[in-house]
Parts: sequence; structure tokens; C-alpha cells
Amino acid sequence: MCGIIGCVGRGTETLDTLVEGLGTLEYRGYDSAGVALVDDDGLSVVKAAGELSALRERLADRALSGTVGIGHTRWSTHGPPTDENAHPHLDCTGRVAVVHNGIIENYQSLRADLEATGHEFRSDTDTEVIPHLVGKRLADGDTPSAAFRGAVDRLEGSYAVAAVVAGSRRLFAARNDSPLVVGLGGDEPTLDTADPAFIASDVPAFREHTPHVVYLDDGEFVTLDDGITVTDETGTRVRKAVETVGWDPEQTGKSGYEHFMLKEIHEQPRALRQCLSGRVDELRGAADLDLDLTAPTGVQFVAAGTSYHASLYGAELFRRAGVPAQAFLASEYATSPPPLGADLVVGVTQSGETADTLSALREAARRGAETLAVTNTVSSTADRECDHTLLIRSGPEIGVAATKTFAGQLAALNLLTLGTVEDVRSRRAVLPALRDLPGDVQAVLDSSVASTVAETYRDAAAYFFIGRGLQFPVALEGALKLKEISYEHAEGFAAGELKHGPLALVQADTPVFAVVLGDGERAHKTVGNIKEVEARDAPVVAVTDGQSDAHLYADHVLEVPETHPRVAALLANVQLQLVAYYIADGLGRPIDKPRNLAKSVTVE
Ligand code: AGP
Ligand code: GLU
Repeated sequence: MCGIIGCVGRGTETLDTLVEGLGTLEYRGYDSAGVALVDDDGLSVVKAAGELSALRERLADRALSGTVGIGHTRWSTHGPPTDENAHPHLDCTGRVAVVHNGIIENYQSLRADLEATGHEFRSDTDTEVIPHLVGKRLADGDTPSAAFRGAVDRLEGSYAVAAVVAGSRRLFAARNDSPLVVGLGGDEPTLDTADPAFIASDVPAFREHTPHVVYLDDGEFVTLDDGITVTDETGTRVRKAVETVGWDPEQTGKSGYEHFMLKEIHEQPRALRQCLSGRVDELRGAADLDLDLTAPTGVQFVAAGTSYHASLYGAELFRRAGVPAQAFLASEYATSPPPLGADLVVGVTQSGETADTLSALREAARRGAETLAVTNTVSSTADRECDHTLLIRSGPEIGVAATKTFAGQLAALNLLTLGTVEDVRSRRAVLPALRDLPGDVQAVLDSSVASTVAETYRDAAAYFFIGRGLQFPVALEGALKLKEISYEHAEGFAAGELKHGPLALVQADTPVFAVVLGDGERAHKTVGNIKEVEARDAPVVAVTDGQSDAHLYADHVLEVPETHPRVAALLANVQLQLVAYYIADGLGRPIDKPRNLAKSVTVE
């Protein structure tokens, strides 16, 4: 999940256009970059691990020319960020170059088939199957256009993909579940007259050259040459509307959302799909993690902030599977290490660079524990130092407040317990709910009334959040999100704990958000806690799937679809993210960069 740029018709400016375009995609974060250009002599590729400056340095030593080109910034999902794994990738003959964002789920079987027919691979990526598939079809006599379409037809998973072929002045691209937009150069261009033409993951990559865009839909193919041809899955030509975007590059970087946080909240269905991609095997009732990890007999989690809340959730999942497990605040663990009553210590950290968490993991390793990093960042310190890594694959997160990475952590922790310690019964119950999770999150995003609730309670004196069991970490996270970005006082409590002290604070101007999912004993008890706060005149917002009678006692209801209650926790969290966002927005806070906070806290 990162950046693609491509262009035709920029003449001698082609290379600069690509590299500048990659620079504007920098906010998406990446670990390597590369470009491929076609000229009369064939195809040239230059790529480099590291920041864009490493690619620029490498390009300074090379006279690269060409009038059709593609460029890529990579956010690794398959294989570490090395020169070999950087995109573009080539086929065996060096005639086809491909860049790709996303994950090819069936790459292993495709790669095995290709290797069996003599194709040699040079990288660890899932992407490399694509140029080989194109190359194979070219060798069989296909035109470049037919070869590209035929190759893409064989892919399963998420992709925005672009290709150039030596000897052709065309650029081919397609999308499924990853963003891709076309830029049309020239005055008042149409699809037939656009010159030059661009493709990119996001508008800022070419906004300097044109405000005219066509947004591609899933399943569409586009060919750029003298004009722009868009076709659907069946090959039928589609007349797409040409739109004009405004001139705020940062705004367009947010895909039209006012803040990165809101964009990232809305990216959760896609991020979760990537996290679960290829890992949920419902037919076998198995979670495939590609982790060489034996079932632990005891687990300790170490983490900070939002990741600590994910750890509380993960520890509860292990305990429910009968495995003793505890979550620790990393800063406490590092300075007052508890007895190591566990053979596995899991560091949950989206950045992989949180100093407290790294110290705790080092302490655990020093004492002989096996360590596992649950992280979003390939080649982060946690990834490099731990014995194992489980990637959450959420894509880069820019907003300081963690949103989609928290969702990714909870999904990955479900996969972890399902893949290591849970029995077939729970696997059969939870895997279908996980499969449906991205769609259920979308349903919450499409129907949420969180903005109305936020407006109603924006001037409250304080906000309380309650939940039990797996909903307790969600309550804590709801409060953290709100205090972080709104600067308002917010606290999360285990629902049963309220009466042991915090209830003294509850009154008519302190709304209580109660997370109540399912219809079990825990839900019933939380409904009892709702009645306690109602008796103190506090307004109640129930975040519920409607299975209990929580809604009957609530002033407002934030609904979530009915699913397995432990998966529903992620849905409830989406509602609370939106509440936090809209309260903070209503108060005019700088949502993406709250005061005093940093995205990655690298000091203890
Ligand atoms: C979350 O919104 C915060 N920005 C913060 O609590 C964060 O979760 C914490 O600093 C841990 O970061 P990590 O996941 O990168 O280790
Ligand atoms: N899955 C591909 C890789 O790991 C693409 C990652 C991306 O979207 O940048 O190379």
C-alpha cells in the first residue's frame, strides 16, 4: 500500500515527472522506491531501498531517458525493503516492468506454476509474478495489451498495477481494491485528446501538471497512449466522467477528507481486508499466519497507549483459549519486570519503534523468552529484533491518533490466537465473522450517526466509557481517542468498576458511552451499570448490536451489525473513533497533530 505514478507524453521531462510525483506521495510513508522508463533502446530500471533520496542519488549516476515511465514507492508486505524487492519488477527477458500496490493472494501458486515452466524469480515479493505472467503471454504471441489483461485476470487479491513494455509507447494499468486515478493533461482534455496523461495512486502525484482527473473503479483497465482508453472487466469500453480537482495538494493527499484521521477511519475496510488477506481459510477452518511459532503455554504482552489496549484484548483472547496471558504497560515492564511466567512475549507496536516497548521486549529476550512483534512496519526495530513478526498490514498511518492500526492489531491478534491455541470450534465460529469484518466496518461507516451524537454532547464536562470483557479495552480506547484529539476529559472503565469510585463523578453533564455486545451475562451486567448511571441523571449512549436491551435505557444508540461479539468489538470501536473525531472537529482541534504528542515515541 503506497505510491504509484506513471506518465506518457512528457518527453524529456518523463523521469523528473516520475521522481517529483513520488516525492508528493511521500506522506504515505515508504521504504524503497524505483522507476522504469521505455525509450528506443528498450527498458531501463533504477531502484533503491530507503528514502527517495537514495533513488535520487542512484539516478544521478545514470543517464536515463525515455518518454513512457512508471515509478513506485513501496510499503513492504512480502519481503524486506531491499534493492531486489523494490519495484519495478521485471520478467525474465527484461522486456516488461511492473509496479504494484496491494497484495496478490494467490502469488504462491502462480509463482510455483511459473517456476515449473522455467521462470526465474529475483525477489521475495508477491508482485514479481505479474511481469512474469505478462512476459509469458508475450512469448506466446499476445499483444502487450492482451498480455497485460490476461495476466491481471489471473490475479486474486488487491492491486493497483501499472506496466510498461519495451518496444511499446503505451502504459497499461488496472485496479482492484487499491486506489488508482488517471490525470488528463492539456486544456479541457477529453479521454480522446488528453496529452500528456498520468496514472497515480493519488492526485498530488500529478496535480502540478493537471487538475483534470478520472477516478477508476474496481475491475477497470486503462491504457495510456495518444488518448486514454478505459475498459471494464469484460473488455467493454467505459466512458468515464472527467472531473476537476482543487489546488490544495495536502487536501488532495487526504483524498477529499478534511483530516488524515477521518481518511484513515474510512480506510479500515480496505486495511482489514489486507490484514486478513490469504490468512483466513474458512474451508479448512484455519488461520494461516506463515509463522514458525509453537503454541505458547503462557503469554505476556508489552505495549503502550492504543497498542496496550489491543494487548488487553489479545491477552483476554488467549485466556479464553485457556492460556495464561497478561498485558503489561511496556514502560512498567521495562523498569519493573514481572516474573517471566510465559514462554512468549508479544510486543504490540504499530510503529515498531516505541522506545518503551523495545526496552520491554529486550528485557524479555534477555531473560530467555521467545519474542513476537505485532507491527505495521516491516524492518522496524521491533521487526528486526524479535524472533517472529506478525504484520498487521494496515498501510501507513499519518494521523497521530491510531485508528486503522488498532483495528489491524485486533484482527491480527484474533488470527494469532486462532492460528496457535484455539480449538476448531472457535475457529469455525470466528473465521466467518472475520471474513465479514471489512464489510461490517463499511456498514458502520455508511450508517453511523456519531456526528449527531458528537454535536449533542460536544460541551459536556467529561466523558466516560464503560465495557466488560473484550469491550473493556474498547472503552479504554474510546476514551484515549477522545482525550488525545479533543483535549477534553475522558476516562474508560471496566463497567463493574464504576460503582467503586468513578460513579462519584457521574452527573447530568457527563455522558456515559456504554459498549454492550451480545446477549450474555456480561451484557446483562453492563445494562445494570447503565441503570446505575441513569439514576444519577447521566445521559447514556449505547454502542450495541441490539441483542441485549441496552438500547431501551439509552438516550442515543450507535448501532453495529450483529456478528461474533469478539469481532463486534472492532465495530463498536469504529463508532467511538467517529464520536472522538466529530467532537474534536466541532471544537476546532488540530486533529492530525494534537499538542504534545508524536506519532512514534522513541524516548523512554
Ligand atoms: C495512539 O492514538 C497514540 N498515538 C499512542 O497511544 C500510541 O498508540 C502509542 O504511542 C504506541 O505506539 P506504537 O503502537 O507505535 O508502539
Ligand atoms: N505487496 C507488494 C510488496 O510487498 C506491494 C507493497 C506496496 O503496496 O507497496 O512489494
